[in-house]
Amino acid sequence: MEKSRIVKSGYSKIALKYHRQRGKYPNIKLISRFIRHIPKASRILDLGCGAGVPISKFLVGNGYQVTGVDFADGMLKLARKNVPGAKFMKMDITNLKFKPNSFDGAVSFYAIIHVPRKKHPKIYKRLHKILRPHAIMLLNASGTNTWEEYTDDYMGVPMFWSFYNPKKTLRIIRNEGFKILWGDVLKLGGEKQFWVLAENKK
Ligand SMILES: C[S@@+](CC[C@H](N)C(=O)[O-])C[C@H]1O[C@@H](n2cnc3c(N)ncnc32)[C@H](O)[C@@H]1O
Repeated sequence: MEKSRIVKSGYSKIALKYHRQRGKYPNIKLISRFIRHIPKASRILDLGCGAGVPISKFLVGNGYQVTGVDFADGMLKLARKNVPGAKFMKMDITNLKFKPNSFDGAVSFYAIIHVPRKKHPKIYKRLHKILRPHAIMLLNASGTNTWEEYTDDYMGVPMFWSFYNPKKTLRIIRNEGFKILWGDVLKLGGEKQFWVLAENKK
């Protein structure tokens, strides 16, 4: 099966199960670090928003205008119910259909690691366009090492992961037009992930 179909159908099937355990890893410290850079009422894009909780919900609760995108119907259905104050759209994050300078910030929690890594540069290239100058983005783009293609059982469905190592991930994000403000491996909810905070240079 095509990799993106594994991810899309997998997350649609486990949407409720995933959502029920997601609260264990609220990521509040991280997301608070992000909003310090963004004025209230700004427009924020949540890539691979899942069920909208806790990230989109936290952002709406803090006065931001949030657009969440995801390609799994099961997740979008929950997100619309969980966060009525945000707008949710079905979209593949490797093919973001927004006009230039549409957002003041972007977040992506645990989503880019499910995209075949050769497509990662394309995501940042597009983000560089659709984010306004000096917009801030926060995302996790890698684990501690490198996984070219990895498929395994996840919550009872087949799931796919792919990413470069942190050093290469930083190089790609820089090359696509961002200034790195911070990047570090953090262990959150038992998982070590590489997180990046970056500013759009235009
Ligand atoms: C691990 S979940 C994280 C959801 C949410 N960001 C959170 O923090 O709870 C990953 C989400 O990314 C979505 N996703 C993965 N690849 C995607 C793609 N290429 N386009 C759109 N959504 C994608 C999945 O459908 C899933 O909802």
